[in-house]
Amino acid sequence: MAEIAVLGFGTVGSGVVELIDRNQEQILKGVPEGIHVKYILDLRDFPDSPYADRVVHDFDIILADPEISVICETMGGREPAFSFSRKALEKGISVCTSNKELVAAHGPELIETARAHRCSYLFEASVGGGIPVLRPISEALIQEDITSIIGILNGTTNYIMDKMEKEDMTFEDALSLAQQKGYAERNPEADVEGHDACRKIAILSSLMTGKTVRYEDIPCEGISRITKADFGYARNMRMAIKLLGMSRRNADGSLSVRTAPFLVPEDHPLHSVTGVFNAVFVHGNCVDDLMFYGRGAGKFPTASAVAADVVECCRCRGSHVEVRWSDETLALADPSEESRQFFVRVGAASADAARAAFGDAAQTVQSDSPAEDEYAFVTGELTEKEILDRIGRLQDVRACIRLLDLGK
Ligand SMILES: NC(=O)c1ccc[n+]([C@@H]2O[C@H](COP(=O)([O-])OP(=O)(O)OC[C@H]3O[C@@H](n4cnc5c(N)ncnc54)[C@H](OP(=O)(O)O)[C@@H]3O)[C@@H](O)[C@H]2O)c1
Repeated sequence: MAEIAVLGFGTVGSGVVELIDRNQEQILKGVPEGIHVKYILDLRDFPDSPYADRVVHDFDIILADPEISVICETMGGREPAFSFSRKALEKGISVCTSNKELVAAHGPELIETARAHRCSYLFEASVGGGIPVLRPISEALIQEDITSIIGILNGTTNYIMDKMEKEDMTFEDALSLAQQKGYAERNPEADVEGHDACRKIAILSSLMTGKTVRYEDIPCEGISRITKADFGYARNMRMAIKLLGMSRRNADGSLSVRTAPFLVPEDHPLHSVTGVFNAVFVHGNCVDDLMFYGRGAGKFPTASAVAADVVECCRCRGSHVEVRWSDETLALADPSEESRQFFVRVGAASADAARAAFGDAAQTVQSDSPAEDEYAFVTGELTEKEILDRIGRLQDVRACIRLLDLGK
């Protein structure tokens, strides 16, 4: 038996323990000796759990046991997750994690530690929950020149936007429903302000380029300013509003990365990704378009991705599973030079000024809801710098949302 330990017996960690029991027969196909969870580290005891006798509270017990070959870090947060992961890797114990915050902040350092100690640091579950997307990008697409990755990377915000679009709910009501259903945390800031999606597109961009794309360098905008009124126009334009993480290679080879709400046309595959589902749309120069779709969160979907990494680590015991992500920081393209169309709404009193500022290229659009006293339009192609300059000259700007173009 390959002996492993799970750090954090919460949603994901308990899912990993149960999945390894439930799917042992499937696991034997990859690891013929089987996998056994010897320890569960948590702050609490779980007297009613069938795994109660495996719970420990001292990480050193796990570290000191020479039988342990893999640890699943499903505690979340930076510390002590970082220290525990580093100590394990320094002892040659592989670490599999769902902790995107830690991966985005310390990924290359922990990969390097694993390489130096002939073990592995794997993090499939940190992006897209149960969707196998990181290993396909790193391995199945190694021969490709990947030119863009666009993802719906946060199920909570996708659920909120979906409710606003289909059931005409306000942002506040949709968020409150997401919280009641357990999709949104009590403090939803990391989701609704886009930080969670931003960390995930940083991880994807790092694997796409092999260098470190720092999430702090990525322009990040959440969904809290999107209103019911925006969806009235979106529906009429046969578009949906989605929070996207986007990473695109420019003609000069530089990379533009952004997290923001976008209007997605009906004929783009990401348009049909609704509710709590996630999807990652990848374009490679030879393979063309690919889309990875599935549950971006939840106990068993996320545990499934962690367990896949555990199997890989057990199969490769004594060696390092290569992850191409160096600590060299990639300087991103100037975000103010990105160019695209925008949807803009202004109060009626600013209509003439808006027409003067945006000229004939602006196309008026209507809402499918009772019209507000305002003027709404889609601009021609403009850079981020140009749109900021033009809307900066107008009063009562009610919305400015980017359009996802189909061609890139
Ligand atoms: N939930 C999902 O669907 C999902 C999906 C993808 C990725 N993730 C990521 O996976 C990680 C875990 O998420 P989760 O939803 O499973 O969280 P969770 O339900 O809060 O579970 C975390 C567990 O770790 C325990 N813990 C915290 N600090 C600890 C420490 N110092 N020592 C021992 N145990 C400790 C917690 O105990 P207490 O409860 O007593 O604090 C809790 O039982 C996070 O990084 C999250 O972002 C989650």
